[in-house]
Amino acid sequence: MSADYTSNLQSIFNNISPESSESDVEKKVIVPLLQMLGYSPKDWEPQAVVGKSKLDFLVLSPTSEIPYAPYLVIEVKAPSKNLAQNIWQINDYMRKTVAFIGLLTNGYEFRIIYNYQLKPKEILNYSQKDFIDNFDSLNKLLSKPTFLTIYKTIYQNEQSFRSKFLEQISKLFKDEKTITNVNEKSSTEKIIPPAIEKEKEKSMIITIFNNKGGVGKTTTTINLAAALSKLGKRVLLIDIDAQANLTTGLGIDPLEDIEDQGKKDITDLLLDPRTKLEDVVIHKQWDDVELDIVPSHIRLSDMEAALIMTPDVDRVLSKKLRRYNEKYDYVLIDPPPSFGKANTISLMASSAVFIPTQLTPYPVRALEYVINRAIAVDESRDDSLHILGIAVSMYERSASKNITTMSQKILEIIAKKDESKDLELFPRHTWIPRLTIVANASDTDKAYPLCYAEFDKSLSSKEKESAQDAFNCYIELGKYLISAVDKKRSK
Ligand SMILES: Nc1ncnc2c1ncn2[C@@H]1O[C@H](COP(=O)(O)OP(=O)(O)O)[C@@H](O)[C@H]1O
Ligand SMILES: [Mg+2]
Repeated sequence: MSADYTSNLQSIFNNISPESSESDVEKKVIVPLLQMLGYSPKDWEPQAVVGKSKLDFLVLSPTSEIPYAPYLVIEVKAPSKNLAQNIWQINDYMRKTVAFIGLLTNGYEFRIIYNYQLKPKEILNYSQKDFIDNFDSLNKLLSKPTFLTIYKTIYQNEQSFRSKFLEQISKLFKDEKTITNVNEKSSTEKIIPPAIEKEKEKSMIITIFNNKGGVGKTTTTINLAAALSKLGKRVLLIDIDAQANLTTGLGIDPLEDIEDQGKKDITDLLLDPRTKLEDVVIHKQWDDVELDIVPSHIRLSDMEAALIMTPDVDRVLSKKLRRYNEKYDYVLIDPPPSFGKANTISLMASSAVFIPTQLTPYPVRALEYVINRAIAVDESRDDSLHILGIAVSMYERSASKNITTMSQKILEIIAKKDESKDLELFPRHTWIPRLTIVANASDTDKAYPLCYAEFDKSLSSKEKESAQDAFNCYIELGKYLISAVDKKRSK
């Protein structure tokens, strides 16, 4: 027992006398004691409401990060009070809060209670002197580091219990494939899903393609990528637009996070033969959604001349991605709306395109041109460029008449094309509605995929509902895209 503790505790106890009030004991004994035990004021809640009464200190109450029972509850009395008469009160608090440990004290006597299966049991009854003499052990029992260790163990056991439980559910419902995938996503260790190991499928590289700007291409790319990750896919995003909207929309500032830090971006990947994909990729995680991102930078807009000088520039990205065929299930590329070099480079690296459009007259009219362009690239290549289909973004849910007219127009455009191209308008349940929260989520102050809105404390429950509503549509889009890819592959 260190001399430091002894003198500290002695001086704490000297702060009170038998005439002191309850609030003296709280302020002069309990608060400094909690600090000695490693807690800071934000770790406890004074006068916490429990049922109809208030307990004096609730230490480490549950939070979203640590959703477990509080560790310690403390009930304080004035030194003149006989603690034996107040045991019922701390027992009641312990049953109601499910706290691990209780401390009932009047500053002179210290009773420690352990909550054993909701039947609180007094385990220690100490005087001030006993308290000082046994502080080494008390510190081990009551301190914050102890709690954190206990919490970690509970958490790990819970995770292993949850995954075993899920195994049982999957057996019960004979749906081992999907349920196993969920299981692996939620587990803390990263295990490569057996399905992927078996097939060793090459990554599907898709350009999100539309030369009409403002149709929701970048927003679709971000949230579709998040949806694919939720669905268990390993996803790489490549921003090859000098506007860098995808980069900033995912919380990466091209100046602060890349340039100022001496990091690399898409321009290095395209122009420097020694730069490899892993030198450029930024890994980001939002709860269980993980994405690798190749960021862009405004300087890409000055690179057209340099790009043209680069030998075999059209294939530069294609070559750089080749080595990573097994690392990602999906690579989504977001090129600029113009038909410059960046677009050709994206298309040459891709095995498919996917066309998002708005259901308004101008984008729908532009669609024919976009499709022709994709078909032209397909026909100029040795291997084919699949057109996975046309997806709808930002449609007005209330404007049903417009929706019918516009989707009819799209079907007419498709009908004019060669049947062998297998063009299709994605079904209605995969369409993304126009909702304010979708735009807000990619603003620089938020900059997260929609699925992360549920963790944003600044949002109202209405906004969280709206984010969930929109994200569900992206999940549907993701599922449909996966099935469209599987169909093309099996042909
Ligand atoms: N589903 C949606 N609901 C509301 N606003 C959206 C939606 N999708 C995109 N937006 C907004 O529309 C604008 C254009 O979208 P963006 O994804 O940048 O298009 P593009 O990449 O085609 O230029 C952005 O301000 C974006 O926040
Ligand atoms: Mg864009």
